[in-house]
Amino acid sequence: MRRPLVAGNWKMHGDAGFIEAYAGALRRAGRAKDVDVLVFPPACYLDRLVAAVAGTGVEVGAQNAHWANDGAFTGEIAPGMVRELGAGWVLAGHSERRALFGDTDERVADKIVAALEANLQPILCVGESLAEREAGSAEAVVARQFGVVAERIGREGLARLSVAYEPVWAIGTGRTASPAQAQDMHAYLRSLIEARSGGVARDLRILYGGSVTPENAPALFAEPDIDGVLVGGASLVVERLLAIVRAAEAVGAHRN
Ligand code: 13P
Repeated sequence: MRRPLVAGNWKMHGDAGFIEAYAGALRRAGRAKDVDVLVFPPACYLDRLVAAVAGTGVEVGAQNAHWANDGAFTGEIAPGMVRELGAGWVLAGHSERRALFGDTDERVADKIVAALEANLQPILCVGESLAEREAGSAEAVVARQFGVVAERIGREGLARLSVAYEPVWAIGTGRTASPAQAQDMHAYLRSLIEARSGGVARDLRILYGGSVTPENAPALFAEPDIDGVLVGGASLVVERLLAIVRAAEAVGAHRN
């Protein structure tokens, strides 16, 4: 059974006042029913957000963490530090990290290994560019991005992983993948996971990300292999994140 997961990625947005108002709205909304809700603020606000959402059931994660647990890495943050701030999750391989900050497949795998060692739950982000989709290589790109990580972490690591399929052409563009396009890639990803480690595939959550809104979320959740969403822009408006949570509640867990 895969419990739905709604995750908001604030990217480099937010400040202290924003966090207070956001957490207040989450508290007033009450606990989500059979849906996991997760927020990824900028790293400097992790502990502040953890404290602000205490008691709401909302969990907190970092958008990125380094592959080493300490060392001469100016400007970086170690997974153990993220853990110490009270966060339980971390993203790795977000397309903005890959495109703008040089996160290669191997570095992403290093980061996932380090996150697991620090007892964080990693979400591996994968996704093809528009050119790659148009060239017919979307599946090959996603298979490569996933394969490098799977090779490193094995069955035990896969059992603790979630994956987010975020086609680059759908991120921040308002051009979401159709539910059928997303479902096709999710089913393909699940077949890759199945091929590597049988039983794990049934329980591993695969999220969709890329211009998710309260309007398109219900149709996405209705697909059998879309177990959650990773929401960027819409997650900055707490009422919109909550509307997406309600859409997930309406659909419930996937049991296929
Ligand atoms: P948008 O929802 O703004 O398209 O961003 C998606 C994303 O990158 C989430 O990680």
